[in-house]
Amino acid sequence: MSVNKEVRRVTTHTLHEMKVRGEKISMLTAYDFTMASIIDAAGIDVILVGDSASNVMAGHETTLPITLDQMIYHAASVVRACQRSLVVVDMPFGSYQGNSKEALNSAIKIMKETGGHAVKIEGGSEVEESIKRILTAGIPVMGHLGLTPQSIYKFGTYQVRAKEEMEAERLKHDAKLLEAAGVFAIVLEKIPAKLAKEVAESVEIPIIGIGAGADVDGQVLVLHDMLGLTQNFSPRFLRRYAQMGEIMDGAVKQYIADVKAKDFPNSKEQY
Ligand code: KIV
Repeated sequence: MSVNKEVRRVTTHTLHEMKVRGEKISMLTAYDFTMASIIDAAGIDVILVGDSASNVMAGHETTLPITLDQMIYHAASVVRACQRSLVVVDMPFGSYQGNSKEALNSAIKIMKETGGHAVKIEGGSEVEESIKRILTAGIPVMGHLGLTPQSIYKFGTYQVRAKEEMEAERLKHDAKLLEAAGVFAIVLEKIPAKLAKEVAESVEIPIIGIGAGADVDGQVLVLHDMLGLTQNFSPRFLRRYAQMGEIMDGAVKQYIADVKAKDFPNSKEQY
């Protein structure tokens, strides 16, 4: 794989150009400085400070509990690490659904206090007004359709969305509506690959999939999942690129053994 070294800072404009020339967009989540430094230097195009931090970082069962201030803490840490990637910050549950004024205030707080480059909002027509109002402040917005984890209690399960005709039609309609509202890209989560392809072909903005097949403009995964750090989560769409959980387990066990055996520290590891 080759990374385009000429790109200085990926912008929303860069992503649009990538779609036009058929270059796939790579996106991963990050929630802290150290991980973000590594993936930014590796050449990732977009870093999402996802509200999946609620699961991955805080151990909650859903994304609902994470607060705006907690998202800001994670996002500011990530932004400090990034030289190249576009940093998109998830707007957490409860920070934009009330009304569009509240949504705008939350988005402004995120931009002011994190230095992030864009925000992401889950939903279609129900959040159109909020998206439009945020855009009036010059804040780029990424959409998110399909499985939207903040609505888990409405859906009831994390299964594939939009398999039925009616929900698929609604999703296609929402994608066009978000594009017309002015979002710069849309994440499509866990929907049939054929539907995702249709959506990607029907809009000019980049479509970034997670569990949405190959015929979209880019892919996103949760970093801790693809590195094999998270346990007991193996959806079909997840490819594990490393088994870092096992590497950590081995390292920690060796450290414990060395301490117990009085092997660590040795004479060269002390002052
Ligand atoms: O919060 C998150 O990590 C996300 C991705 C799954 C797209 O929204």
